[in-house]
Amino acid sequence: MDRSIAPHPALSRYYDDDGGADGADGKRSFVRRIFNQTAGDYDRIERFMALGSGSWYRRQALRRAGLVAGMRVLDVAMGTGLVAREEVDITGDPQLVLGIDPSIGMITQALRVLPVRAVLGAAEELPLADGQFDFLSMGYALRHLSDLSVTFAQFYRVLKPGGRLCILEITRPRTRLRRAAVKGYLRWVVPLATRLATRHAHSQLLWQYYWDTIEACVPVETVTAALSAAGFVDVSHRCELGIFSECIARKAPR
Ligand SMILES: C[S@@+](CC[C@H](N)C(=O)[O-])C[C@H]1O[C@@H](n2cnc3c(N)ncnc32)[C@H](O)[C@@H]1O
Repeated sequence: MDRSIAPHPALSRYYDDDGGADGADGKRSFVRRIFNQTAGDYDRIERFMALGSGSWYRRQALRRAGLVAGMRVLDVAMGTGLVAREEVDITGDPQLVLGIDPSIGMITQALRVLPVRAVLGAAEELPLADGQFDFLSMGYALRHLSDLSVTFAQFYRVLKPGGRLCILEITRPRTRLRRAAVKGYLRWVVPLATRLATRHAHSQLLWQYYWDTIEACVPVETVTAALSAAGFVDVSHRCELGIFSECIARKAPR
């Protein structure tokens, strides 16, 4: 039986872990609300912050994970479409890319600029048939999940045999100096700049939460072990500049 693996302990500063059946209701509703409230500011702040981002980095990471023209793609946690946009360019056809996200605000922003298909839903309960996709991506949302085991079982289920997986995430730097520098920037500079630029307290809170979840997140070895436990093969991790992590894996061919 699968062991439940939360990406990080509950963060009581942001939500009460008020006990749904899986103990994650407080987090789920907090995350959905904060992304709905900040969807209009997201792209502007993400561009300014330029960490874990930039269309160049996303595109290179997708190519490294094996995305090529003609593949059918599921982009989980599509947000405003920053990963999906690169997938449209690489696959060559917007109709090949399906996005999913629990935030209607984020999906609405994405569909303003991208002619892809999108559905409302969460990674833990994908409302999709088995074995449909050649490639599955999830950008900067691992920390927002309630359970890695449940989610990775879903990813495995919807991929075709031989299908590829690419998870992008910001991970906590391993050296103290680098961690202090990144924390200073992400926990203090970005939220303050966000507040000044947008005048929205919710957007400031989102970017504070962003660092706090990075700091509390399980090590990447826990993520790769959970991928292997879900049945994925060729599981690997690559890290750029000590913070930009890519977890890549494949569903075994039949
Ligand atoms: C930081 S944004 C990243 C968006 C986009 N992938 C990118 O690279 O910019 C995180 C997204 O994850 C979504 N999200 C949060 N919890 C989720 C879940 N349980 N399943 C799927 N997506 C989730 C949020 O609604 C938000 O749109």
